[in-house]
Amino acid sequence: MKKILIVFGTRPEAIKMAPVVKEFKKCEQDFETKVCVTAQHREMLDQVLSFFNICPDFDLNLMKPNQNLYSLTGDIINGMKPVLEEFKPDIVLVHGDTTTSSAAALAAFYSGAKVGHVEAGLRTYNKLAPFPEELNRQLTGRIADYHFAPTSKSQNNLLQEKTDASSIMVTGNTVIDALIESVEIVNKVHDNDDINRLKELIDPKKKLIVVTGHRRENHGQGFLNICDALNTIAKTEHVQVIYPVHLNPNVQKPVYSILGDNPNIHLIDPLPYEAFIWLMDKAYLIVTDSGGVQEEAPSLGKPVLVMRDTTERPEAVEAGTVILVGTDKNKIADEAMNLIENTERYNKMSQLHNPYGDGKASQRIVDFLLKN
Ligand code: UD1
Ligand code: UDP
Repeated sequence: MKKILIVFGTRPEAIKMAPVVKEFKKCEQDFETKVCVTAQHREMLDQVLSFFNICPDFDLNLMKPNQNLYSLTGDIINGMKPVLEEFKPDIVLVHGDTTTSSAAALAAFYSGAKVGHVEAGLRTYNKLAPFPEELNRQLTGRIADYHFAPTSKSQNNLLQEKTDASSIMVTGNTVIDALIESVEIVNKVHDNDDINRLKELIDPKKKLIVVTGHRRENHGQGFLNICDALNTIAKTEHVQVIYPVHLNPNVQKPVYSILGDNPNIHLIDPLPYEAFIWLMDKAYLIVTDSGGVQEEAPSLGKPVLVMRDTTERPEAVEAGTVILVGTDKNKIADEAMNLIENTERYNKMSQLHNPYGDGKASQRIVDFLLKN
């Protein structure tokens, strides 16, 4: 029986690892599975744990207000040591590109455990964008023994880096597993407080723009530009903006001070996952710098403007559902206004494209580790 430790710490990792946890827990005869959360995020992590009913076996509870990369990295490595010594996992699974992923992978390597990397092989090959995530993901890739690549593009990146082909499996992205399961739940639930509040907020006569943003490289001038662009877009009468604001103080401060008084822009707290996917489904257009949202929106047939200059997720850009607009305020506002007014272009972009998976990625990860 193999011992598996699944480690994550932030909201998106939790969403994308929840189906993996569920799939491993189904195979009790083959795997002893435990979950460790670093709690790099606290409230936003807990929202996801509660929706997916995950009760962590280890909770490092590390989040500090306005934390920095140096202390967070050190705290994760130190915090993982007793967990690894107590449970002695054969395999540690980490996800993606956060500080939790790379620091937990390094700690796992020190302990002698094998490392499996979920959502492996995405690359921009620009160390500064996304910062520090591009390097985190590359480091985790060097440490990992097993690479679960969501698409053939990510597989090819790993092969070009001379990663052993037999250690890579193309699985699809587990975000689609989470999305499919959650959409089903949301469709069945008829009385959800967060969704009820959103229903009261949404004006059905207006085109709804849903916004999220948090990237470190956009802090400062980038967010000032984004807020200016949103003020411009929200001047249009038949448009309404709803923006669940990330809890990072570097985001909260500019966003609330610049957009807080605009009656056509509704700033709200981060939404529980189920309410957020309900909201995305009601959107006309999504404007974001988020990685996960770029993957989910095409499955819901929603055009996305991505406020980044480059993306490690080129598949949806190539499919035509995502446009990179950077943080130039004119470009953001012009592209948004064009899609609001030009319905022919909008309709072309809003075809359902899902290059990211079929909802069986977690099953493929389990199958791979059963055989390897
Ligand atoms: C982190 C990840 C980023 C990921 C993002 C998802 C790194 C380097 N960054 O960025 O890759 O895309 O999460 O959202 O790993 N905060 C709270 N409560 C929460 C969450 C955050 O108060 O539940 C505040 C805290 O003040 C915290 C700050 O946000 O110190 C920053 O959190 P941190 O995880 O360091 O950075 P993110 O920008 O969230
Ligand atoms: N999300 C959420 N509530 C919100 C905003 C986003 O649950 O208010 C979800 C979203 O559906 C996606 C994930 O959070 O699955 C994206 O997280 P984030 O943008 O913080 O990080 P990234 O994906 O950029 O790493």
